[in-house]
Amino acid sequence: MSNEDEKLIILDDEKKILLDHDYDGIRELNHPLPKWWLVTFYITIIFAAYYYVHHTFLGAKSLDQEYQEHVAQIEAAQAEWQKKHGGFNWDKYNAYIATPEAKKLGAKRYKRKCKACHAKDGGGGVGPNLTDDYWIHGSGDAEMVYNIINQGVVDKGMQAWKGVLSEEEILAVTAHVVNLRGTTPSEPKEPQGELVE
Ligand code: HEC
Repeated sequence: MSNEDEKLIILDDEKKILLDHDYDGIRELNHPLPKWWLVTFYITIIFAAYYYVHHTFLGAKSLDQEYQEHVAQIEAAQAEWQKKHGGFNWDKYNAYIATPEAKKLGAKRYKRKCKACHAKDGGGGVGPNLTDDYWIHGSGDAEMVYNIINQGVVDKGMQAWKGVLSEEEILAVTAHVVNLRGTTPSEPKEPQGELVE
């Protein structure tokens, strides 16, 4: 079949790139692929070869091994953090502070160890106001309060109470501080830190 039979209109320029073959009247133009595309394609071939050799023969770690390693690292970091911050546990906290002696102990220890700087009613003094919604060291929830009591804010003048007070005493004082929030102290210190809704 000639071009005329098919009534194909082929521009002069296109003739140069018209391929010989003819599939039941379907002709092809030879459009070269763009350079950037080819370069990208060749890079993927090189990468595939590298990847195959690296993982099949050179003993690179599998994704599963990498994942396990990362999990182990995270667990180690968590364990380290827990150790440093006294290992707060919400279940333990909630179970303990529900007991009547925890309430009494919390109030007693607060009066003896914290009142001097945070005021009897939590209004603040040397230390910040513990009744308002502003917190310097985080959310003001039990976990944060517990951690701050354990580690103190040594450079600002509050000692670490871990080792001075027992774990139960710290849990009890934590609950006491958490309960101070929202109460109205007689001489409230101005807010410090960030507003926590
Ligand atoms: C010698 C003074 C002093 C004593 C005693 C003290 N604190 Fe503090 N406390 C501070 C100071 C100062 C800060 C503020 C540190 C800062 O600016 O970061 C603080 C911060 C805190 C915070 C964090 C407040 C926030 O806004 O993030 C909590 C909670 C707290 N103290 C609880 C206690 C408890 C509970 C006790 C008793 C076991 C106690 N403090 C004893 C001085 C004291």
